[in-house]
Amino acid sequence: MRCSAIIVAAGSGVRLGRDAPKAFIELAGEPLLRYSLRTVAALERVAEAIVTVPAAMERRAREEARRAGLDIPLKITAGGSERQDSVRIALALSGAESEAVVVHDAARPFAPPALFDACIDATRHTEGAIAAVAVADTLKRVDGNLIAATVSREGLWQAQTPQAFRRAALIAAHERAARERWAATDDADLIERCGGHVAIVTGSLRNLKITTPADLELAEAIAKSGVGGRP
Ligand code: CTP
Ligand code: MG
Repeated sequence: MRCSAIIVAAGSGVRLGRDAPKAFIELAGEPLLRYSLRTVAALERVAEAIVTVPAAMERRAREEARRAGLDIPLKITAGGSERQDSVRIALALSGAESEAVVVHDAARPFAPPALFDACIDATRHTEGAIAAVAVADTLKRVDGNLIAATVSREGLWQAQTPQAFRRAALIAAHERAARERWAATDDADLIERCGGHVAIVTGSLRNLKITTPADLELAEAIAKSGVGGRP
C-alpha cells in the first residue's frame, strides 16, 4: 500500500516557552524535527513526505531532512493557525497515488518505525488506526480544586500519533470539518465524527509528546539512555 507521511511541525510551542518553534528546539543535540524525519526515512512504504513548518522555516526544515537521510520526494509548507489547519494544508499536497496517509506530530520524537508500520497496515481493514496507550492512572473529575468524582478508566485510552488513514477518508473528513466548523485535536476525531472506524494500535509511554519543559527534561533522559530514544 503506497503511503504519504505528513509531519506536522508548524506549532510555536507556547507551553514549552522557548525562543524558537518547538520542532527546532534541540533534544540531545538534534532538533526535534530531525527525529521524526529519520523515522519516516526508515519506512519502506512511505513514498513521499510533507512537512508543515512555521512561516520562514522551510529552508531549515529541508536541511533537517537532508541530515536525517530522507531521500524520498519532500514537500515543505507553512502550516495553518491550528494543528487541524496544518494537516488539511499538508493533505492537499499529498499525491493521489497514495492509498494511505500517516500523520505524525514532530512533538513526538520517539515513535518507532514499527508503530508507523502497524498503523499503516491496520488501514487495510478500517478507515484509520492510531497509536494509543491504555490509561493507567486513576482519573478524577475536579471542580475548582475539589474532586467531584472518580471516573472509571475502563476502556479509556490516550491517543498518540502516528495516526494512519485511508487518504480519501481523511480528505473527506477534513472537508466536512471545514464546512461544519468542527475543531478537533487529532485526525481520528474527524473520521469518528464522520462515522468511520478507527482502530487502536498499542503504543508505549516512551512515545511521549513534548509539551512542557518537564517533558523535554524527561525526553533528554530517554534520548541519552538509549532506551528507545533513537528511532
Ligand atoms: N502543529 C502544527 N500547526 C499548528 C499547531 C501545531 O503543525 N498550527 C503541530 C506542532 O508543531 C506539533 C503538533 O502539531 O508537532 C502537536 O501540537 P502541539 O504539541 O500543541 O505543539 P504546539 O502547538 O507547537 O505547542 P503549544 O500548543 O504549546 O503552542
Ligand atoms: Mg498546540
